[in-house]
Amino acid sequence: MRKIHVIGIGAGDPDQLTLQAVKALKSTDVFFILDKGAEKDDLVQLRRDLLGAHRADGAFRVVEAPDPARDREAGGADYSPAVVDWRSRRADIYERMIADELGADECGAFLVWGDPALYDSTLGILEEVLGRGAVAFSYDVVPGISSVSSLAAKHRTGLNRVARPVQITTGRRLADGGFPEGVDDVVVMLDAHQAFRQYQGGVGGDMYIYWGAYIGTADEILVSGPLDEAAPRIEALRAEARERKGWIMDTYLLRRNLG
Ligand SMILES: C[S@@+](CC[C@H](N)C(=O)[O-])C[C@H]1O[C@@H](n2cnc3c(N)ncnc32)[C@H](O)[C@@H]1O
Repeated sequence: MRKIHVIGIGAGDPDQLTLQAVKALKSTDVFFILDKGAEKDDLVQLRRDLLGAHRADGAFRVVEAPDPARDREAGGADYSPAVVDWRSRRADIYERMIADELGADECGAFLVWGDPALYDSTLGILEEVLGRGAVAFSYDVVPGISSVSSLAAKHRTGLNRVARPVQITTGRRLADGGFPEGVDDVVVMLDAHQAFRQYQGGVGGDMYIYWGAYIGTADEILVSGPLDEAAPRIEALRAEARERKGWIMDTYLLRRNLG
């Protein structure tokens, strides 16, 4: 039976690969890499670097396929028709790669950014492929260090306050729904529009922000402080970095009523 590892590789720092992930890398015959386009070459390069560092034997194959473009504006992170269609196109590609490129007794792997359990579609897509019934395989999941863990570590802060909840959400949800009921610590991912800006000027209470872009990479930028002071700095740094690199990945913790 074909086997597949879904391996969390950390969110940008090659040293975030766990020993469990290295073991899984070493037992893989075929690595599947989806190419997300020119502006995300850096993300594909990190995967190549990891293979160079941990698979010096070279006794593996790499199968690359273009990632179908996704219209995030049309669907956000929700299950809109645009997202369902994108997942199903991705499932077509996974199914083809596994059926055509992985031998009956071989082990394949998907190298997933951060932790596969957090805002990543790989597990859902593999389940969709299995559900179609055209190709059979077993799979396991190796957890990775997520960008959220990295953000907290870089700012030397916890995510929650004593016995309090913390919620992880998307920029779109924060923009549409505001702070979730009963929650004062919110981690925001996938935020193309800097939803934190709506809380400047004391809206919703005193706010403190811990922000990080390209965390763990050579381009890392970190800013923290009271929101009114930090927000203009974040906006300027974010715009400059986005212009220079052509893409940005940033995450932040928004903390209400500190102290
Ligand atoms: C599709 S999600 C993938 C999350 C990933 N599975 C994880 O565990 O971090 C992409 C989002 O993760 C966050 N992200 C991923 N890597 C990051 C990094 N190195 N620095 C800052 N944010 C990052 C950003 O919010 C980005 O929009």
